[in-house]
Amino acid sequence: MESFGAVADDHRPIVDFAKDKNGIDQILLRNSKGASVKISLHGAQVLSWKNERGDELLFTSSKTVLKPPHPVRGGIPICFPQFGTRGSLEQHGFARNKIWVVENDPPPLPSFDPTEKAYVDLVLKPSDEDLRIWPHSFEFHLRVSLTSDGNLTLLSRVRNINSKPFSFSIAYHTYFSISDISEVRIEGLETLDYLDNLLEKERFTEQGDALTFESEIDRVYLSSKDVVAVFDHERKRTFLIKKEGLPDIVVWNPWEKKAKTLGDLGDEEYKHMLCVDGAAIEKPITLKPGEEWTGLLDLSVVPST
Ligand code: BG6
Repeated sequence: MESFGAVADDHRPIVDFAKDKNGIDQILLRNSKGASVKISLHGAQVLSWKNERGDELLFTSSKTVLKPPHPVRGGIPICFPQFGTRGSLEQHGFARNKIWVVENDPPPLPSFDPTEKAYVDLVLKPSDEDLRIWPHSFEFHLRVSLTSDGNLTLLSRVRNINSKPFSFSIAYHTYFSISDISEVRIEGLETLDYLDNLLEKERFTEQGDALTFESEIDRVYLSSKDVVAVFDHERKRTFLIKKEGLPDIVVWNPWEKKAKTLGDLGDEEYKHMLCVDGAAIEKPITLKPGEEWTGLLDLSVVPST
């Protein structure tokens, strides 16, 4: 990959551009303390989020294919306009496989926001091919920001520019990098109902205090609180997932057997990833002509014991 040539050495927030080995644009955000976020225009997918010490916070498979139309296995794929498989739409929708566009093209380079954050604005509009599969005109505007505290935020705005209503579901399929799946727990899902994708979406109620892992899991927790925490005991750090407009939380880990069926995931790599997604799935979002939906995901990491 071409390097990010204009990375400032005076530690100002920066926005910089480069191309990956397939010629797809990538954007690097860096804040004043040296934390960084890398985004690919393939899927508007966040590929990397590093804290100020340079520790990677997101998982990406060593076997991922960084070439459309194959989705990237890791980072934060955006599942839109559907989560899962239904009708003629591909699994998790087409947004993660499309090449997005930087808004205000050509963007100011480097973009400098002295107030507090580095950000980039991206947009997806349906192609003729997309409209044949999903006949709804929309604009999906996404702002990816890195705050001065190192938080990663994704602010989505989906606008209906159709003459009739449409509905969609969405998930930020976030692959957190974890020490070991047996060492982590999720808090914030206690007592919630969930749909179990491993049991034909049957509905259950969570009984435990915190969610821990000892086998494959694939669930959609419904109407969760606006903050959910992933504790990584061994790394002594906790991810906080804050969200607005995203009532549901997906929890996914393929475990050993399913990992072996995924060609773009190493056999043992399931131990070092956990997907916890802010999402709107159970009740699809319906937009009338001219209406806009906004959803915000805010990820931060704090030390823990
Ligand atoms: C989960 C789905 O949330 O995402 C699983 O419920 C799926 O069935 C997983 O395997 C990953 O999806 P994909 O398309 O990226 O392999």
